[in-house]
Amino acid sequence: MIEDLVQGPVLWFLNRGSGFAVLALLTLSTLLGIASTAGRGSGNTTRRFASQALHRNVSLLAVVFLAIHVTTAVVDDYVDIRWWHVISPVGASYQPLWLGLGALGFDLIAAVVATSLLRARMSHRPWRLVHLTSYAAWALGIAHGLGIGTDMDGTGALGVRFTVGCAVVVCAAAAVRILAARRGQVAKEPA
Ligand code: HEM
Repeated sequence: MIEDLVQGPVLWFLNRGSGFAVLALLTLSTLLGIASTAGRGSGNTTRRFASQALHRNVSLLAVVFLAIHVTTAVVDDYVDIRWWHVISPVGASYQPLWLGLGALGFDLIAAVVATSLLRARMSHRPWRLVHLTSYAAWALGIAHGLGIGTDMDGTGALGVRFTVGCAVVVCAAAAVRILAARRGQVAKEPA
Protein backbone atom coordinates (compact mmCIF):
# COMPACT_ATOMS: atom_id res chain seq x y z
CA MET A 1 0.00 0.00 0.00
CA ILE A 2 2.72 2.50 1.06
CA GLU A 3 4.83 1.31 -1.90
CA ASP A 4 1.91 1.94 -4.27
CA LEU A 5 1.59 5.45 -2.88
CA VAL A 6 5.31 6.13 -3.19
CA GLN A 7 5.54 4.80 -6.73
CA GLY A 8 2.10 5.74 -7.97
CA PRO A 9 0.81 9.01 -9.38
CA VAL A 10 -0.74 10.16 -6.05
CA LEU A 11 2.43 11.88 -4.85
CA TRP A 12 2.93 13.51 -8.21
CA PHE A 13 -0.62 14.94 -8.20
CA LEU A 14 -0.16 16.04 -4.58
CA ASN A 15 3.10 17.73 -5.51
CA ARG A 16 1.58 19.60 -8.46
CA GLY A 17 -1.63 20.49 -6.63
CA SER A 18 0.26 21.77 -3.59
CA GLY A 19 2.61 23.76 -5.88
CA PHE A 20 -0.35 25.66 -7.32
CA ALA A 21 -1.89 26.04 -3.85
CA VAL A 22 1.39 27.58 -2.55
CA LEU A 23 1.47 29.99 -5.48
CA ALA A 24 -2.18 31.01 -4.99
CA LEU A 25 -1.74 31.45 -1.22
CA LEU A 26 1.53 33.39 -1.58
CA THR A 27 -0.22 35.65 -4.09
CA LEU A 28 -3.16 36.21 -1.73
CA SER A 29 -0.82 36.72 1.21
CA THR A 30 1.17 39.34 -0.75
CA LEU A 31 -2.06 41.15 -1.69
CA LEU A 32 -3.23 41.12 1.95
CA GLY A 33 0.19 42.35 3.11
CA ILE A 34 -0.09 45.27 0.69
CA ALA A 35 -3.71 45.92 1.78
CA SER A 36 -2.72 45.94 5.46
CA THR A 37 -0.26 48.79 4.87
CA ALA A 38 -2.61 50.74 2.60
CA GLY A 39 -4.78 52.17 5.37
CA ARG A 40 -1.87 53.26 7.59
CA GLY A 41 -2.28 56.77 8.84
CA SER A 42 -5.97 56.86 7.82
CA GLY A 43 -7.11 55.80 11.29
CA ASN A 44 -9.00 52.78 9.91
CA THR A 45 -7.48 50.38 12.47
CA THR A 46 -10.27 47.74 12.26
CA ARG A 47 -9.71 47.20 8.53
CA ARG A 48 -5.93 47.09 9.01
CA PHE A 49 -6.20 44.65 11.91
CA ALA A 50 -8.49 42.36 9.87
CA SER A 51 -6.21 42.35 6.82
CA GLN A 52 -3.11 41.78 9.00
CA ALA A 53 -4.77 38.81 10.75
CA LEU A 54 -5.84 37.37 7.39
CA HIS A 55 -2.35 38.01 5.97
CA ARG A 56 -0.82 36.00 8.86
CA ASN A 57 -3.27 33.09 8.54
CA VAL A 58 -3.03 32.84 4.76
CA SER A 59 0.80 32.91 5.03
CA LEU A 60 0.64 30.10 7.59
CA LEU A 61 -1.50 28.04 5.22
CA ALA A 62 1.01 28.73 2.40
CA VAL A 63 3.78 27.34 4.63
CA VAL A 64 1.71 24.18 5.32
CA PHE A 65 1.20 23.62 1.57
CA LEU A 66 4.88 24.39 0.91
CA ALA A 67 5.77 21.64 3.41
CA ILE A 68 3.47 19.22 1.53
CA HIS A 69 4.96 20.36 -1.80
CA VAL A 70 8.60 19.74 -0.87
CA THR A 71 7.87 16.54 1.07
CA THR A 72 6.03 14.96 -1.88
CA ALA A 73 8.82 16.11 -4.26
CA VAL A 74 11.42 14.34 -2.12
CA VAL A 75 9.42 11.21 -1.24
CA ASP A 76 8.31 10.59 -4.85
CA ASP A 77 11.09 8.42 -6.26
CA TYR A 78 10.13 8.97 -9.91
CA VAL A 79 12.85 11.64 -10.09
CA ASP A 80 15.97 12.02 -7.94
CA ILE A 81 15.30 14.88 -5.49
CA ARG A 82 17.02 14.70 -2.08
CA TRP A 83 16.23 16.52 1.18
CA TRP A 84 19.12 18.96 0.79
CA HIS A 85 17.78 20.04 -2.64
CA VAL A 86 14.88 21.65 -0.74
CA ILE A 87 17.26 24.23 0.77
CA SER A 88 20.29 24.18 -1.54
CA PRO A 89 19.92 26.29 -4.70
CA VAL A 90 22.70 24.28 -6.37
CA GLY A 91 23.58 20.62 -6.75
CA ALA A 92 20.33 19.01 -7.97
CA SER A 93 20.55 16.57 -10.88
CA TYR A 94 16.86 16.96 -11.87
CA GLN A 95 16.05 20.34 -13.52
CA PRO A 96 18.89 22.05 -11.54
CA LEU A 97 18.08 25.63 -12.57
CA TRP A 98 14.31 25.51 -11.90
CA LEU A 99 14.66 23.39 -8.76
CA GLY A 100 17.41 25.76 -7.55
CA LEU A 101 15.09 28.77 -7.96
CA GLY A 102 12.39 26.92 -5.97
CA ALA A 103 14.94 26.13 -3.24
CA LEU A 104 16.01 29.79 -3.08
CA GLY A 105 12.33 30.78 -2.74
CA PHE A 106 11.98 28.20 0.04
CA ASP A 107 15.03 29.66 1.89
CA LEU A 108 13.63 33.19 1.69
CA ILE A 109 10.23 32.04 2.96
CA ALA A 110 11.97 30.22 5.85
CA ALA A 111 13.83 33.46 6.71
CA VAL A 112 10.58 35.51 6.54
CA VAL A 113 8.78 33.00 8.81
CA ALA A 114 11.70 32.88 11.29
CA THR A 115 11.99 36.68 11.55
CA SER A 116 8.21 37.04 11.87
CA LEU A 117 8.26 34.63 14.83
CA LEU A 118 11.09 36.68 16.38
CA ARG A 119 9.56 40.05 15.47
CA ALA A 120 8.93 41.11 19.08
CA ARG A 121 12.65 40.68 19.82
CA MET A 122 13.91 42.40 16.66
CA SER A 123 14.14 46.02 15.69
CA HIS A 124 11.81 47.03 12.89
CA ARG A 125 14.33 47.78 10.13
CA PRO A 126 16.07 44.37 9.81
CA TRP A 127 12.69 42.62 10.21
CA ARG A 128 11.23 44.72 7.38
CA LEU A 129 14.26 44.18 5.11
CA VAL A 130 13.89 40.39 5.45
CA HIS A 131 10.10 40.65 5.12
CA LEU A 132 10.44 42.52 1.81
CA THR A 133 12.34 39.53 0.35
CA SER A 134 8.97 37.74 0.28
CA TYR A 135 8.39 39.60 -3.02
CA ALA A 136 11.51 37.86 -4.34
CA ALA A 137 10.37 34.49 -2.89
CA TRP A 138 7.05 34.88 -4.68
CA ALA A 139 8.80 35.79 -7.99
CA LEU A 140 11.18 32.82 -7.60
CA GLY A 141 8.14 30.56 -7.05
CA ILE A 142 6.60 31.93 -10.28
CA ALA A 143 9.81 31.28 -12.29
CA HIS A 144 10.26 27.83 -10.70
CA GLY A 145 6.67 26.78 -11.46
CA LEU A 146 6.81 28.02 -15.06
CA GLY A 147 10.15 26.30 -15.64
CA ILE A 148 9.62 22.95 -13.96
CA GLY A 149 5.85 22.39 -14.05
CA THR A 150 4.32 19.75 -16.30
CA ASP A 151 1.13 21.81 -16.70
CA MET A 152 3.07 24.62 -18.31
CA ASP A 153 3.31 23.43 -21.94
CA GLY A 154 2.32 26.21 -24.33
CA THR A 155 1.04 29.69 -23.53
CA GLY A 156 -2.60 28.47 -23.54
CA ALA A 157 -1.95 25.88 -20.80
CA LEU A 158 -4.08 26.29 -17.68
CA GLY A 159 -0.99 26.39 -15.43
CA VAL A 160 0.57 29.20 -17.46
CA ARG A 161 -2.65 31.25 -17.46
CA PHE A 162 -3.03 30.77 -13.71
CA THR A 163 0.61 31.74 -13.04
CA VAL A 164 0.46 34.79 -15.32
CA GLY A 165 -2.82 35.82 -13.60
CA CYS A 166 -1.06 35.67 -10.19
CA ALA A 167 1.82 37.75 -11.57
CA VAL A 168 -0.51 40.41 -13.03
CA VAL A 169 -2.54 40.95 -9.82
CA VAL A 170 0.56 41.20 -7.58
CA CYS A 171 2.37 43.56 -9.98
CA ALA A 172 -0.76 45.77 -10.19
CA ALA A 173 -1.14 45.83 -6.38
CA ALA A 174 2.59 46.55 -5.90
CA ALA A 175 2.34 49.43 -8.40
CA VAL A 176 -0.63 50.90 -6.49
CA ARG A 177 1.35 50.51 -3.22
CA ILE A 178 4.41 52.28 -4.65
CA LEU A 179 2.26 55.14 -6.01
CA ALA A 180 0.51 55.48 -2.63
CA ALA A 181 3.90 55.58 -0.86
CA ARG A 182 5.08 58.31 -3.26
CA ARG A 183 1.96 60.34 -2.54
CA GLY A 184 2.62 59.89 1.19
CA GLN A 185 -0.50 57.79 1.82
CA VAL A 186 1.54 55.00 3.44
CA ALA A 187 3.26 55.84 6.72
CA LYS A 188 6.91 54.79 7.04
CA GLU A 189 6.53 53.94 10.72
CA PRO A 190 5.95 50.35 11.93
CA ALA A 191 2.33 49.10 12.17
C1 HEM B 1 8.53 29.31 -3.19
C2 HEM B 1 8.50 28.02 -3.21
C3 HEM B 1 7.81 27.18 -4.26
C4 HEM B 1 6.66 27.43 -5.00
C5 HEM B 1 5.75 28.67 -4.95
C6 HEM B 1 6.45 26.28 -5.89
C7 HEM B 1 5.40 26.17 -6.79
C8 HEM B 1 5.34 25.21 -7.81
C9 HEM B 1 4.40 25.21 -8.91
C10 HEM B 1 3.32 26.26 -9.17
C11 HEM B 1 4.67 24.12 -9.69
C12 HEM B 1 4.00 23.73 -11.02
C13 HEM B 1 3.08 22.50 -10.89
C14 HEM B 1 2.76 21.89 -12.27
O1 HEM B 1 2.63 22.61 -13.25
O2 HEM B 1 2.68 20.70 -12.38
C15 HEM B 1 5.79 23.42 -9.07
C16 HEM B 1 6.35 22.25 -9.54
C17 HEM B 1 7.32 21.52 -8.89
N1 HEM B 1 7.97 21.88 -7.71
FE1 HEM B 1 7.70 23.59 -6.68
N2 HEM B 1 7.44 25.35 -5.65
C18 HEM B 1 8.30 25.86 -4.68
C19 HEM B 1 9.44 25.26 -4.17
C20 HEM B 1 9.85 23.96 -4.47
C21 HEM B 1 10.93 23.25 -3.85
C22 HEM B 1 11.84 23.81 -2.75
C23 HEM B 1 10.96 21.98 -4.43
C24 HEM B 1 11.82 20.79 -4.12
C25 HEM B 1 13.02 20.78 -3.73
C26 HEM B 1 9.93 21.93 -5.43
C27 HEM B 1 9.67 20.85 -6.27
C28 HEM B 1 8.84 20.85 -7.38
C29 HEM B 1 8.78 19.81 -8.41
C30 HEM B 1 9.57 18.53 -8.43
C31 HEM B 1 7.82 20.23 -9.35
C32 HEM B 1 7.43 19.53 -10.66
C33 HEM B 1 6.09 18.81 -10.57
C34 HEM B 1 5.76 18.28 -11.96
O3 HEM B 1 6.36 17.29 -12.36
O4 HEM B 1 4.91 18.87 -12.62
N3 HEM B 1 9.27 23.13 -5.42
N4 HEM B 1 6.17 24.11 -7.93
